[in-house]
Amino acid sequence: MAVQCPSERLVPMQHLSALRVEDAERVTYPIPANVHAETVTSVRHYTDRLFSFRITRPQSFRFRSGEFVMIGLPNAEKPVFRAYSIASPAWDDEIEFFSIKVPDGPLTSHLQKIVAGDTVLMRQKSTGTLVTDALTSGKRLFMISTGTGIAPFASLIRDPETFEKFEHVVLTHTCRDHAELAYGVELVEQLTNDPLIGELVAGRVTLYSTTTREITPRMGRITRLIENGRFYSDLGIDALDPWNDRVMICGSMHMLQDVKALVEKLGFEEGSHSRPASFVVERAFVG
Ligand code: A2P
Repeated sequence: MAVQCPSERLVPMQHLSALRVEDAERVTYPIPANVHAETVTSVRHYTDRLFSFRITRPQSFRFRSGEFVMIGLPNAEKPVFRAYSIASPAWDDEIEFFSIKVPDGPLTSHLQKIVAGDTVLMRQKSTGTLVTDALTSGKRLFMISTGTGIAPFASLIRDPETFEKFEHVVLTHTCRDHAELAYGVELVEQLTNDPLIGELVAGRVTLYSTTTREITPRMGRITRLIENGRFYSDLGIDALDPWNDRVMICGSMHMLQDVKALVEKLGFEEGSHSRPASFVVERAFVG
């Protein structure tokens, strides 16, 4: 893929000022030192709680699919930064994020108002445990997500490297209602039509979406559906086993605790960069 990178926007303190997102008063603030100031290229609102946006990618910014980075807005002398999983794959020439809108959240209450052309701040270093290097090799990779926890998997599932390491990927996404599942449904649909990766992933990706509050044909928390076997019977697959399968988990704190306890009971062991094993977890951003 031809990568067309925007010009470098890493600027020293005081040399550049940016408009506030809500710029009625057109107040400007200096861009903090050692932070990338990037331009929003598109915004998409899925529901009144969820939206995605894309920003330009600094030429020097490298990350591994599945990692997160700190982002903020140029709307204060000392902007609030929060960890956001990067939803786009490492080869993409833009950076995509999938975010919750928290009405009084210190960052998301403002971030949800961004439009194309606005400035978003991004720190230089990405990190995170939801990388395939933190897992030992296996046949099937299960990506278990709730809400915006699907974001790191949107990155990994679009990365050819994931399919070099695993034969099959099962992505689960559980949300309160049907409209919140759209991001994952479109992600997997577009994946199969993608010129770069479509052929590689054909027949190797399964999406399992469920709701917990709105009544839909497939309902329930993923923990319950795994425990009662409905997950396996719905997909016609063998039960999770720690010898052949690897698991990545991303969601709220409680979801992480419950899914972690569940897979540990099945014999899975938590891995890290320094000690790869059979599952990894990461908290989805809230605030
Ligand atoms: P529920 O509706 O039963 O709380 P949220 O939008 O609050 O982050 O939740 C996203 C999804 O995660 C919801 O469907 C929610 O179900 C589900 N969920 C919340 N807590 C857990 C948990 N401990 N284990 C599994 N799923 C959970």
